[in-house]
Amino acid sequence: MTANRKVVTDIANAAAQEFYRCADAAIATRNRFCVALSGGSTPRGVYSLLAADQRSGTHRLSWDRVYIFFGDERHVPPDHPDSNYRMANEALLSRVPISEDHVFRIRGELDADAAAQQYDKQLRAFFNLQPDEWPEFDLIFLGLGDDGHTASLFPGSAALEEKSKLVAANWVEKFKDYRMTLTFPVLNHAAEVMFLVSGEGKAQILKDVLRPIAAESYPAQRVQPENGKLIWLADQAAASLLR
Ligand code: 6PG
Repeated sequence: MTANRKVVTDIANAAAQEFYRCADAAIATRNRFCVALSGGSTPRGVYSLLAADQRSGTHRLSWDRVYIFFGDERHVPPDHPDSNYRMANEALLSRVPISEDHVFRIRGELDADAAAQQYDKQLRAFFNLQPDEWPEFDLIFLGLGDDGHTASLFPGSAALEEKSKLVAANWVEKFKDYRMTLTFPVLNHAAEVMFLVSGEGKAQILKDVLRPIAAESYPAQRVQPENGKLIWLADQAAASLLR
């Protein structure tokens, strides 16, 4: 598995173009596009650009064939300022012609285990999975934390070792709370995973993750799609130590 690394000046534009490429290809071959969105701050610009393109007619996407999922969610209600769903809804989902029954949010307002189990069940039903099967997302957006986490797979957390669940309720010590997250087997069964990394603050961790010196491993390094594409999309500031 070789990762494709791209350094860009405008991460939103590059990510949007890849989103369209993936979507058009999936819709052409399977008549649907199943994408898992990431949270945090970096992807907001991409989501806003997708919405702006829809409004301006810059790119005509068949939103009625798009199905939106989430890579992780905080243990908060959907209207909470920290909610990944709220961020994606404000920036994108409320601004494009996608019906509510095509958006599958993780119900962060529930007990964490209940939310994870409910999402796990929802994914198994949507993808019509047998007990030993994994969903194949057409695209999964991921971010990179400065501690090397991705989704809500944090260093030292229990979900790093999850091998059978699709979705885990993961206790994150630094937040003294749970987060719900897709597990590595789901990430690694995707047709494509795209990391979005932006800003000088991520330069060191990006270098450490992409050019590991010691045996130390960061969670993000364990994203290695078995048969899918892995793209690292970084802006000049985040990639400044890679030269
Ligand atoms: C979340 C994300 C998380 C995020 C990284 C990077 O719920 O916060 O899933 O994994 O992608 O922490 O976040 P930034 O884009 O804000 O740097």
